[in-house]
Amino acid sequence: MRYREKLEADKALKEKDAELEEAQRLSVVGEFAAGIAHEVNNPLAILKGKAQLLQLQFQRLNISQKEETEKINEAINVINDTVDHTADLIKNLKTFSSNDKFEALEFSSIRAVVDVALNISKSRCSHAGIDVRINIDENIEVECSPVSLSQVILNLILNSIHAIESLEEKWIKIETKILDNSTQVLVTDSGNGIPADVAGKIMQPFFTTKDPGKGTGIGLTISQKAVVKMNGNLTYNSDSTHTQFILEFERYRFDQPN
Ligand SMILES: Nc1ncnc2c1ncn2[C@@H]1O[C@H](COP(=O)(O)OP(=O)(O)O)[C@@H](O)[C@H]1O
Ligand SMILES: [Mg+2]
Repeated sequence: MRYREKLEADKALKEKDAELEEAQRLSVVGEFAAGIAHEVNNPLAILKGKAQLLQLQFQRLNISQKEETEKINEAINVINDTVDHTADLIKNLKTFSSNDKFEALEFSSIRAVVDVALNISKSRCSHAGIDVRINIDENIEVECSPVSLSQVILNLILNSIHAIESLEEKWIKIETKILDNSTQVLVTDSGNGIPADVAGKIMQPFFTTKDPGKGTGIGLTISQKAVVKMNGNLTYNSDSTHTQFILEFERYRFDQPN
């Protein structure tokens, strides 16, 4: 009896240690995020200012080639959107890691949230020759923070791009699935899954298999924490033949078209 009690006490202690370690790592993430926010916000403001200047000066020019004009305008819009998105993401990262209140949750269309992530990553995908396949039920809304959720999906896409860009078969699939009590967003890529010893660690803060400068190992940690705050979960599905991450939301609804 005494022996079993001791075993249980040991186990509880170990769990507490693990929790503490996790909390410590996250507080490091928090400090790190605050530092990044400070360093990144100024350059972002400069980018934003220059993009506006470009747009103004460009409008004053008399360019007749319509096609070229559209391309330049589109490029300026992408710069603007990307700057805004990055500013939002940094704000979120700060809030999340300092355990402040998260922004309010709202029912948002999965399609719209995914589109934001796709717009930012589409040129990278097309350069890498990656086929992006989307199969999303247009009517589903999940309760989420749309900006953070786009960021989560963007993180998954960027991880996929990195993992498959040198493979022969290159595709990323994003689809929705409605279950009895939840809605899932599946993000699958043409990779052949993550080896079990690696898969067990991918959600840990600072775990990365990438070269220094290529990965920080906080993408999945932050993404998972963010999704949990949206009453959902983010998991790696080791049962899938191709590399698959599952986002699951308990709170969802169908926005039935009239
Ligand atoms: N789609 C994927 N295919 C293969 N491995 C992946 C994929 N997504 C994540 N991983 C693994 O998980 C690790 C942690 O990912 P993440 O937390 O985003 O950090 P980082 O991208 O900075 O390495 C990656 O280094 C990689 O080993
Ligand atoms: Mg990553």
